This record gives sequence, structure tokens and C-alpha cells, in this order.
Amino acid sequence: MRTDTFRGKDFITLLDWTKEEIETILDVALDLKRRRAMGELHDHLLRGKTLFMIFYNQSLRTRNSFEAGMHQLGGHAHFLDPSKIYTPALPGKEIAYTTERVSDVARVLSRMGEAIAIRCYGDPVDWVYGGANEIIRNFAYWADIPVLNMEDDKYHPFQALADILTVYEKFGTFKGVRFVMSWAYSPSVHKPRAVPQSAIIAATMMGMDVTLAHPKGMELDDEVLAACRKYAEQTGGSFDISYSFEEAIKGAHVVYPKAWTAVPMFKPPVGEDSPEKAQEIFDANKDWIMDADRMALADPNAIYMHCLPADRGFEVTDDVIDGPQSVVFDEAENRLHVQKAVMSLVM
Ligand code: CP
Repeated sequence: MRTDTFRGKDFITLLDWTKEEIETILDVALDLKRRRAMGELHDHLLRGKTLFMIFYNQSLRTRNSFEAGMHQLGGHAHFLDPSKIYTPALPGKEIAYTTERVSDVARVLSRMGEAIAIRCYGDPVDWVYGGANEIIRNFAYWADIPVLNMEDDKYHPFQALADILTVYEKFGTFKGVRFVMSWAYSPSVHKPRAVPQSAIIAATMMGMDVTLAHPKGMELDDEVLAACRKYAEQTGGSFDISYSFEEAIKGAHVVYPKAWTAVPMFKPPVGEDSPEKAQEIFDANKDWIMDADRMALADPNAIYMHCLPADRGFEVTDDVIDGPQSVVFDEAENRLHVQKAVMSLVM
């Protein structure tokens, strides 16, 4: 396939990329992973280049994997705290000498570096679903350099790439792999939908047999569900929704239980602007925890996945996340390799 099509492209959601392109990214990621394992330097790939990273939210894995990745590729990752610059804002959200219009920030940074990466979801956009994605899309519209989505309120594409790379490493194929993305309880309702939405997009795009499991009230974006159904049809995989944790897990090869917020949390028209209602739905489903008994329902060779950070004792028990079937640290490491692949290809 052509590889020059990667150069200059934004990475905001896997929906903007073809299956063939994603397979190439995974291939490059595995190549870079092998090179690093062999102690082979590859710091010529982005030598002298700068990635600007704007974090509206906290992070351990994303920040450090991008910083380490840029260093390994010979470039520099520059951390920007939106509260310490003039906070990038869209028209209508501007405050004099406190914010700066996204269009101006994007054009300034385009004169100084080779890519802009952004994390934004939840409180910074007052839980207006899609508000953060709109900021990232606006950056992409104005920037002359690639814009990378480090997690917004709809998508976490680099997490999804790391997730499917991990599945591929464990099973050597996507065909016939039963992948269960499930909701799990957390005391916090302040969790975006980005991880489950990107995970089911990636898994169906790759042709896995995918089940989305959650209690009523945790529904995901209809557009994402429609895309998953389309991918399942195109690839010969499948996509189902279940409201039973146990039924979904039975015989699964991959179990990926994590919390995401309930629909009422979002502002209308998507939700009801009601964290209280979201909390009620959460509290009615405290039994959605991944424990050893539930893990035993899955295939004997099943793997347990989580993007981390995990709410231990709520989403998952220690014996599962620290047990032999857990691949959570492989997933975390794979963030480094997939991000290096995308940056090498687009920058
Ligand atoms: N999984 C993930 O994105 O982790 P961080 O929030 O630590 O970046």
C-alpha cells in the first residue's frame, strides 16, 4: 500500500483511517518494538522535531509514553498546561487575557513544531458530549501540522491501537477472537466514553467477534454503534450488545471491563445534566466487578485487559488484575510503540 498518504494526517479517531492503514501502523509499531528490544537506536526518525502536548486533564501513561516516544525518535515533546498558557478556547467561550482562540494557538504552534497533541474531556467542556472532540477538530482545521487525539470525550484512538496490538501479540490473529468490552463499577461517574467507544471500533474494524456489555443507562454513542455494525458486516466478524455481565463473558477470549459514565451525566440533548442520576445508576450496579469467579467463565486462555488507571476493589479485584491472565502492563507498554509508529508516519 502507499505510505506517503500518512504524512501530515491527523489522528483523531480510527474512523478516519482504513483497516489497511491501521494494519500498517501495527506493523510499524511491532518493528519499532523489536528494534528497541534489540537495543537498536532509531533516533534519526524524528530528529529535531517537536510535539506540543496540551493536557486539559491528568495523565500518567499518555504523557509519559509520548514524551519517552519522542525522545526515542530523536525529537522533543513539549508539555503545555492549558491553565499556564492562555487556555485554548472556541469562539463563545473566550475570556479576555485568560483564553486564546484555538485558531490562533493552532497557527502559532504550527510555525514552531511538527505536531500538536491534545487531551480534553469532561469538566473542561462542562460535560457537553462532543465538546472536546469539537476543540480537537477545530485545532486540526487551523493547524498546518498533524493533530493527535490523546483522548477526548468520544475517542481514545491511541489506547485502542495499543489494545488491538496487545490482542494480536497474545493470539496471533483477530479472526475468531471473542472480545468483550464491558462496563464495570467505579465510585466515580467522571469517566468519559472514549476508551470503550474506541475499543469496539478497533475490535470490529479488525474483524473480531465483539460483545459490548453494560447495564441499562450506560449506552454508548449511536454513531459509534452503527460504525461497529458496519465493520462487523464488512469483515465477517460480529457485534452484539448484552445487558448481562456473565452472559457476555462466557467463553470470551478477551475481557475488558471498565467504568464509563452514565448517559444522564451529559448536558442535554444527549443527557440530563444530572450527576446525581448518573450516580444512582452506578450505585445500582456495584456488583459489576471483575473477579476470579467471573474470569473463570471466560475461555481458559482468556486475557484480562484494562487501559489503566483501574479502580481496584471496584472495577476489578487484585487477584484478577495481578493474576496470570492480566495483560494490563503489556497494554500500557504498547502505548509507547503504537504512538511512535503513528508519529513516525504522520510527522
Ligand atoms: N490509559 C490512559 O490513557 O492512561 P492515562 O490517563 O494515565 O494517560
